Amino acid sequence: MNYIDSEYQTAGLNLPHGTANDRVRRILTAALPTPPSRTTSLYSNYWDASFFNLNRVKIFQESTDSEQSALLEIANRNLLEEAYCIENAGVGYMAKMVLLAETVEERMLYGLFAADEATHLGQISYFLPEFELTNNRDPFLRLLAEVVEGTDKTVLLFVLQVVLEGWGLSHYRRLAKECRDRVLAELFSSFLDAESRHHATGNLLFNEIPLAKSSETLITEILVRFLMVVRMGPQNLLSAIERVKGHLSRSQKIQILEELDAETHSRTRLQLLRSLVKGKSASAIVQALEERGAFVPLPAHQSVN
Ligand SMILES: [Fe+2]
Ligand SMILES: [Fe+2]
Repeated sequence: MNYIDSEYQTAGLNLPHGTANDRVRRILTAALPTPPSRTTSLYSNYWDASFFNLNRVKIFQESTDSEQSALLEIANRNLLEEAYCIENAGVGYMAKMVLLAETVEERMLYGLFAADEATHLGQISYFLPEFELTNNRDPFLRLLAEVVEGTDKTVLLFVLQVVLEGWGLSHYRRLAKECRDRVLAELFSSFLDAESRHHATGNLLFNEIPLAKSSETLITEILVRFLMVVRMGPQNLLSAIERVKGHLSRSQKIQILEELDAETHSRTRLQLLRSLVKGKSASAIVQALEERGAFVPLPAHQSVN
């Protein structure tokens, strides 16, 4: 379980899940909103092949029914596990911001935000009852875990609340809109109000702080790495296909990425991220990122080794 270095405490990604004693769990259950009343079949396909664009992929079309559902199950679990890890990191991040608050009002806000993220985490957990992380090498999550350990408040505000919470909002909106399970769809849309408050607060507080050159440089360096994950396209999906279909050659991976139209999808995501970075005080950051080509998706042949 200890797959992320133990110094990544804020993200909490190395904490065991489901091992607290019964009494602790009972109090937690009582404090959280009531769990969904009906039991959804576990790991069922909340998002279908077209959500992932798998319906356009030849190797998927030619797979047996059981291979297709195994693949969708992995892809679905990846989305839920990713949301779980993001919310878990969110709890630690908000708690850290309570301590970094400069007014009582700000301290209260972050206390409430920590409770929002804890609620989201608890609710997502209902859909991951037998939880054992499988996407432990996900580069996005590892980078997130690294960034929340930072100590520069301006950097934390900008990267996590302005950019990533802004991105998270549109990600959750899409998860809600295209989820085939009503309960889970409603759950994700119920997160949106809180997430947009977190994002708006990030914008507000960031714009109040003069941007030091050192913070600007650090933000740029971190975003170059985050954007690279997006530029590389849906690598998770390639690994999911490999887990079901066995080893894929380089040319097969290129073909799959092309069939997925990965470059176009990455471009759309990068444009959204660019618009989030491009705040009033951040034009220098956008410019630095543009000079490094950070908003340009990689063509398939450059995204695979
Ligand atoms: Fe959240
Ligand atoms: Fe949030």
